[in-house]
Formats: sequence, structure tokens, C-alpha cells
Amino acid sequence: MKTSASYSGLQKLLHWAVVLTFAFNYIVSDGMGRALRTFSQTGINDSLTAQLHVIVGIATIVLMVLRVIVRLIQGAPELPPAPHPLMDKAAHFAHIALYVAMILTPVVGLLAWFGGVREAGDVHEVLVNLTVLLVIAHVAAALFHQFVLKDDLLKRMSPH
Ligand code: HEM
Ligand code: HEM
Repeated sequence: MKTSASYSGLQKLLHWAVVLTFAFNYIVSDGMGRALRTFSQTGINDSLTAQLHVIVGIATIVLMVLRVIVRLIQGAPELPPAPHPLMDKAAHFAHIALYVAMILTPVVGLLAWFGGVREAGDVHEVLVNLTVLLVIAHVAAALFHQFVLKDDLLKRMSPH
């Protein structure tokens, strides 16, 4: 594990690229249910929203897989001393949950779209909401570190 105070430039780039693709697909998702029904009946996808949703969703999977590989090769900078050892464990668990959620959610979307698995659409929507909850907790933790513990944690993932 690296002891530098910051994630690598590539890790930061991948982190923020995934934030953008996830936010994009969360917003550009209107009418996906209707597009899915049309696509599974006719094999035609003439909805621009759905075309973008599928492409950006697949890009998210590619970026996340790359992220996991880079993370395994480069490791992570050591955490600043936590007020309680449980906080280290919570952060570790939350990060793993974020990796799993960010890969599983779009993969289940693929299963609904290309695999024609009806239930996968509903599961995809539930997973999207669970992932959003995880992200909210993650951002709250980052802000808690930054402004309450004042350990400058945001700098470890900030572009500069
Ligand atoms: C970045 C990851 C993704 C996010 C944040 C996301 C987000 C969403 C959201 C919010 C909805 C609900 C839309 C609504 O209720 O009107 C939705 C539906 C849907 N998404 Fe995704 N999505 C992602 C990736 C994917 C991928 C990769 C695919 C497939 C290629 C996909 C296929 C679908 C389908 C088929 C639905 C409709 C499900 C149904 O109504 O049964 N999504 N997505
Ligand atoms: C889609 C949204 C997001 C996802 C999926 C996500 C995911 C992750 C993951 C998995 C890590 C752990 C990296 C590792 O050690 O392997 C991480 C770290 C980090 N994220 Fe996010 N993140 C998101 C949004 C944000 C936002 C909006 C902020 C800023 C408020 C943020 C700030 C940070 C910081 C500061 C770290 C470094 C934490 C540390 O040093 O241990 N993230 N993020």
C-alpha cells in the first residue's frame, strides 16, 4: 500500500469520470421502461434517451473495471488517523460497497436491456436507489472529514 497523501492522477480521473457518468445516467433515464418494452418487442431502439443511457451505462462498467484494476495495482494512500478504529472499517466497507454497487447496477441494466430478463429492470431501479443512498453517505463522510475532523481528506481525491 502506498503512503503518499493522495490518490494517483489516474485514480482521480477515473473517480470523477464515474461520478459524471453515474449522474448523467441518473438524469437521462426518463422513459427507459417504455423504450425497454419497444426494444424487446421490435428490436428497435429509436429513443435518444435510451441510446445515451445504454452507451453511458456501458462506459460506466468499463471505467469501473479499469478502476478496480488500477486500485489493485496502485493501492491507496494510507488513511489519516481516525478518531475511532471503527471509522476505518466503515470507510473500507463503504468503498467496497460502492465498487460492487457501481458495477452491479449497470450490469443488471444490461441484463434487462440485452438479456430480456423482465425482473432485471425492477432490480436495476432498486439498485440505482441503493447506490444513490451509498453515494449520499459517502459524500456526507467526505464532508465530515473535511469540515469537522479538518483532515483535508478531499485533497486526496481532488483534481489539483
Ligand atoms: C451508470 C449507471 C446507471 C444508472 C445511474 C441508471 C439509472 C437508471 C434510472 C434512474 C432508471 C429509472 C428510470 C425511470 O424510472 O423512468 C433506469 C432505468 C433503466 N435502465 Fe438504467 N442506469 C444505469 C445503467 C444502465 C445500463 C448499463 C443499462 C443497459 C444497457 C440500463 C438500462 C435500463 C433499463 C432497461 C431501464 C428501465 C427498467 C424498467 O423500467 O424496467 N441502465 N436506469
Ligand atoms: C457516483 C459517485 C461516487 C462514487 C461511486 C464514489 C466512489 C468512491 C470510492 C469507491 C472511493 C474509494 C477509493 C479507493 O480507496 O479505492 C472513493 C474515494 C473518495 N471519494 Fe468518492 N465517489 C463518488 C462521489 C464522490 C463525491 C461527490 C465526493 C466529494 C464530496 C467524493 C469524495 C471522495 C474522496 C475525498 C475520496 C478519498 C477517500 C479516502 O481518501 O479514503 N466522492 N470514492
